[in-house]
Amino acid sequence: MKKGCEKYIPFEPVKMASRDWPDKMITKAPIWCSVDLRDGNQALVDPMNLAEKLEMFQLLCDIGIKEIEVGFPSASDTEYEILRALIDGGHIPPDVTVQVLVQAREHLIRKTFDAIEGAKNVIVHFYNSTSKLQRKVVFGKDMDGIIDIAVEGARLIRALGEEAAARTGANIRYEYSPESFMGTEPENAVAVCQRVIEAIGADAQHKIILNLPSTVESSTPNLFADQVEYFCKNLPSREAAIISLHPHNDRGTAVATAELGMLAGAERVEGTLFGNGERTGNVDIITLALNMFTQAVDPKLDFSNIGRVREVYERTTKMQVPVRHPYVGDLVFTAFSGSHQDAINKGEKYMKDSGTEYWEVPYLPIDPADVGREYEPVIRINSQSGKGGAAFVMNKNFGYDLPKAMHPEFGRIVKNYCDRVGREISADEVMELFRKEYIDIAGPYSLVSHKFFEEGEIDDAAPVVRFEGMIKNNGAEPVAITGKGNGPIDSFFNALAGVGIKGYSFVNYSEHAISIGSDAKAVSYIQLASPEGKNLFGVGISHNINYASIKGILCAINRSLAADKN
Ligand code: KIV
Ligand code: ZN
Repeated sequence: MKKGCEKYIPFEPVKMASRDWPDKMITKAPIWCSVDLRDGNQALVDPMNLAEKLEMFQLLCDIGIKEIEVGFPSASDTEYEILRALIDGGHIPPDVTVQVLVQAREHLIRKTFDAIEGAKNVIVHFYNSTSKLQRKVVFGKDMDGIIDIAVEGARLIRALGEEAAARTGANIRYEYSPESFMGTEPENAVAVCQRVIEAIGADAQHKIILNLPSTVESSTPNLFADQVEYFCKNLPSREAAIISLHPHNDRGTAVATAELGMLAGAERVEGTLFGNGERTGNVDIITLALNMFTQAVDPKLDFSNIGRVREVYERTTKMQVPVRHPYVGDLVFTAFSGSHQDAINKGEKYMKDSGTEYWEVPYLPIDPADVGREYEPVIRINSQSGKGGAAFVMNKNFGYDLPKAMHPEFGRIVKNYCDRVGREISADEVMELFRKEYIDIAGPYSLVSHKFFEEGEIDDAAPVVRFEGMIKNNGAEPVAITGKGNGPIDSFFNALAGVGIKGYSFVNYSEHAISIGSDAKAVSYIQLASPEGKNLFGVGISHNINYASIKGILCAINRSLAADKN
């Protein structure tokens, strides 16, 4: 045997003179078919029991899937019983079609028809493998032998189907899969399917579903799309068929394969929730549907409560949804990087300020609310987070609207802390840092009492404000201070200067109301320049807006003195 990668046979592309699919767009939802209860179930370490299958079936119906492959009833007694339980228990809604899989072999086909007795809407899905490799390695047959199996199966299914429909009034439709389509020569795939169309008697009014599986994903999605386009263009009775896809995910590109396959002419997709299924899984219906949703194409499936879908899926299959799974994983609405956080922050603000009708938030391809997720955990804080992240958390979680100029200062405090603890920190820890740094700062200076007086005539346009109060420097006795100015902040500055607290200049100020518990207070942010020319912030919170400001000034001065000491 050859060594390393040389032992593999590269995929042989279909020869196409031209192709139309690259210029197309997905403009409408395909017919969805879930194979969770069959392909998905057969791939589970512990297959679902009856109760779990019924719960999964119900979930699929709730999502809006109208065609559900419920099993392989001829292959196992459990699958047979599950189908009977669904039919006899009246669990199948009138607008839902159950699909049953069967190999194109006589005794299995007969058993399958026993299993579906009494169902109103059924798709009998039969298959045989057609690929070059399977013909050579598994069946030892040429293509004619493979076509014979398919045609014989089709004839028997047609006969049993017509008999059952006449007897019970059931609506029985047919699906044929040339299994391993992706490894079948294009002309052979067309030939077997055309012969099946003829044998089953399909026409434009009674279409057969021709399901083109990439049973083992073997090429880049563009080459698969070529295969689908070739098939659609060369099938003589194209009008008699609904073209379906059944992509597996061996190369990790099942979603792209399905999307390009739809561009190439497929009208139906078989897949599973979260891409469960044999080996690397089937195509993930949720990702496909939500990809459409974010392109303004209604997927006609309801994932508005994705949390419930995930919960039922994880419980019934005992599988876990990875944290980075598109649209659903725990971390997919989370931004760690500072620049991402900042952009999300700005996007959110833009949405609010502009009143745009569209979702225009960078780094979030979907509004988390559309899948029933919370917006709060979008920003998480670790040492990679930028200045905007901490401010975002303060705003979102606690209602503090830190002025822009303060973001770098507080961001640095948070980043240093994250570096020290070496992990992501919670929103409460961010608040704790804020509290320690700006709210609980007790000295060296603290006000013991304070009062403001306005001086001047009643309608004086610019009255003078006088501040009077007592200030304490650590354990020393409080001293009286007084000062006048053109406003509360100015008068307080002048009062401080009177007792030697000088050299600080006022740079900027902002304030807003904040609800703390059931209480409404004012919070003010004061930006000062220290005597050394360093800019820093102080925060003051009070019922009284003037007092909030002077607390903010003292906070900034105290922080500046504390920084000098360290
Ligand atoms: O993957 C596959 O080819 C299948 C067929 C039975 C449709 O599951
Ligand atoms: Zn499959």
